Amino acid sequence: MKAMSVIPGKPDSAAAEEVPDPPESDGSILVEGLLVGICGTDIEITRGYGQPPEGQQRLVIGHESLGRVLQAPEDAVVNAGDLVVGVVRRPDPVPCAACAANEWDFCENGRYTERGIKGRNGYGARRWRVDPRFAIPVPASLGDLGVLTEPASVVAKAWEQTERIAARAPVGGRVALVVGAGPIGLLAALLGVQRGYEVHVLDQVTVGPKPQLVAGLGATYHHGAAADLDLRPDVVMECTGIGQLVIELAGKMAPAGVMCLAGLSSGQHSVPVNLDAVNSELVLENAVIFGTVNAAKRNYAQAVQALAKADPGWLGGLITRRVPLDTWPDALTRQPNDVKVTVDLTD
Ligand code: BGC
Repeated sequence: MKAMSVIPGKPDSAAAEEVPDPPESDGSILVEGLLVGICGTDIEITRGYGQPPEGQQRLVIGHESLGRVLQAPEDAVVNAGDLVVGVVRRPDPVPCAACAANEWDFCENGRYTERGIKGRNGYGARRWRVDPRFAIPVPASLGDLGVLTEPASVVAKAWEQTERIAARAPVGGRVALVVGAGPIGLLAALLGVQRGYEVHVLDQVTVGPKPQLVAGLGATYHHGAAADLDLRPDVVMECTGIGQLVIELAGKMAPAGVMCLAGLSSGQHSVPVNLDAVNSELVLENAVIFGTVNAAKRNYAQAVQALAKADPGWLGGLITRRVPLDTWPDALTRQPNDVKVTVDLTD
């Protein structure tokens, strides 16, 4: 069968390659792959992030999955014909305290694996298998939009952790600033609106689908420099991974503000920073800046709920390009109006 495979660190190696059928050791649920979403991590894998399964050179990528169940054991949470998404991370073999508690997203020793990213083949194949413990049922009503479940799970964790941290202070501000209007930023804005926040989104572009998608949520779109923003947000969701923005926004938060870093930085950009000024801004305002990665199983369930509540027309607007499996490497080249690009595994 065909699969989306790549040698990590070799961008030219990305190809639709013939691979053996998925091994039973991947799990007892057999799935027909429908769609895979592409994100910045996939592009980073072609540049050297991630690793293939032990002893292999190539990695089947694809961690934002959507498939239809072909066969499932009787006691599984899904039946033949159901839509399903696979969890990305697998607990480390030790396991550490976090993995032992099924909170692999907090793995302490880094020995976790991730499907399509680190040490395990992913879901970018015509057929894949998954263990029932790592299968997330998706309602038929979501259809293709179910491919947004994994990125939405990352955002659901980001909001869950942000609100846990915010709850330490008896203040009730509800202004949220999302930085970056890519798929993660737009989903963060959606979940913020669903939680009742006054949501603002900052990005650079003035044309293309992003300003309209933000307006479609009833949120406010801003463009330009973070330093020029006339806003004191209680929550900042940083979704670009641009380190400099963290420093620029640290002093703009409302008292007891929480800044969640959900974007992973891949650059090496450095700027001189007055860290003592940043220190006093954070101390005197009881502010918190924290990072978040991946998602626990409950966050996938929260993601499915959030997507099911959202306007399907709006969610559909996030998927701006669909590429057939045979030419999937085209999905790795960003085009100006891209928001979420998907690969059609049935085409
Ligand atoms: C994925 C996460 C993963 C992270 C780090 C992200 O793109 O959505 O599931 O943990 O990359 O590998």
